[in-house]
Amino acid sequence: MLMYYTRSEAIVKYPSIKYNWNMIIQMDALIQALAQALDMVEISYLGASTNHGKRIAVLCAAMGRHQGMEGPELSRLVTCALLHDNALTESILENQHHEISDLKPHCIIGQQNVEILPFKKDIGGYILYHHERADGQGPFKLSEGYYPEAAQFIAAADMLDVERQLQRVMPEMLPELRQSIVNDTHHRFTGLASGALLSVLDEDMLASLRDDRIAESVRLTVPAWTMNVDDPALICLAELIARIIDYKSNFTRIHTQQIANRAWVMAEYYGYSITEKTHFFLAAALHDLGKLAIPSEVLEKPGKLTDAEFEIIKTHIVHTRDLLKGLTGLENIVEWASNHHEKLDGSGYPLNKTADNLDFNSRLMAGIDIYQAVSEERPYHPRRSHEETMPILENMAERGGIDKKIVADLSRVMAPYSGKDVAAPVLTHLSIDKC
Ligand SMILES: [Fe+2]
Ligand SMILES: [Fe+2]
Ligand SMILES: [Fe+2]
Ligand SMILES: [Fe+2]
Repeated sequence: MLMYYTRSEAIVKYPSIKYNWNMIIQMDALIQALAQALDMVEISYLGASTNHGKRIAVLCAAMGRHQGMEGPELSRLVTCALLHDNALTESILENQHHEISDLKPHCIIGQQNVEILPFKKDIGGYILYHHERADGQGPFKLSEGYYPEAAQFIAAADMLDVERQLQRVMPEMLPELRQSIVNDTHHRFTGLASGALLSVLDEDMLASLRDDRIAESVRLTVPAWTMNVDDPALICLAELIARIIDYKSNFTRIHTQQIANRAWVMAEYYGYSITEKTHFFLAAALHDLGKLAIPSEVLEKPGKLTDAEFEIIKTHIVHTRDLLKGLTGLENIVEWASNHHEKLDGSGYPLNKTADNLDFNSRLMAGIDIYQAVSEERPYHPRRSHEETMPILENMAERGGIDKKIVADLSRVMAPYSGKDVAAPVLTHLSIDKC
């Protein structure tokens, strides 16, 4: 009896979903999914209002257009606005506290993070200076005229939304709001940002910033932006997403990154093409995106979770599917990311899928996720060697939860990495430097 899968047996035998090897990735949809998750982080860490990043993006897009920005220039501004607080999890965990009294770290790390994106050369300071003030009282003490136009827009929109929660401002409050912007001109807001804000902030704009309208406003506002699947920047972006997720909890600091790297190694083992590998890597990087919506006190609880807390943790997978649902054309990636807690015998969650509805890559993702969770150090168990990890997976396979032959493949392929982290993919198929 064949113990292991061959490539043709694996990917051809279990296509319960129709694979769509899309060569074009809709980057604006991917960035929006990430931004939506980041908004949930802001709510949980900072008590920020809902949809904060999206509102900044919609406001910035309008301000940019008012200033004559268009095309790639506008796209860069809106993307940076959506991702302006991308480093919150990283800077908070690195600084070991849950307040950001010092704003500099998340500005510096956030800027470095977005510089992996394809437009890296043209966004100098957009995120670095997103907390500067016209009067030089911001974290870097730069005064009006000394930080880029795009950063002024993001900073002004950010200050206004944090303080006034723009989704709640009623039309009758608009004159007072506008007067406050005038009063703050050359103090907190630069003249340029203030002028642009006053030009776009009318009743229609306020309505478009409401929670029930914001998703549609973003969809209409964010310029479409695509990337070829073999563009190395896509791997870099996937690695950034994985890192943002991992920084949500000290207990899982390498979990997603390692799953993505192991996914790449397994995909190479099965002989996947670059397109197939990249799709699978992206799905692995996104699989726990919904963890960004889970309160830190539950994720980081050192002791045993109560039943109620475990139920909260389990919702991360519902959030993952929900956050990714806008990735049209990438439905297979959404499936592989969202099925990783399903079991062949129907005992998994959240949809209690069974073998018939779990394609090969979903089974493989589940196996890799369990391998990583069992082998990595957790508060309730130490790091485990390959030899200590495999019997746990084999037992699960024996009971019918996970795919036996995938477990056999994992045993064979992961053995050389026992006790070690798996390195990030080396993009030998590409002729550019790694991110
Ligand atoms: Fe910030
Ligand atoms: Fe913000
Ligand atoms: Fe998970
Ligand atoms: Fe996971």
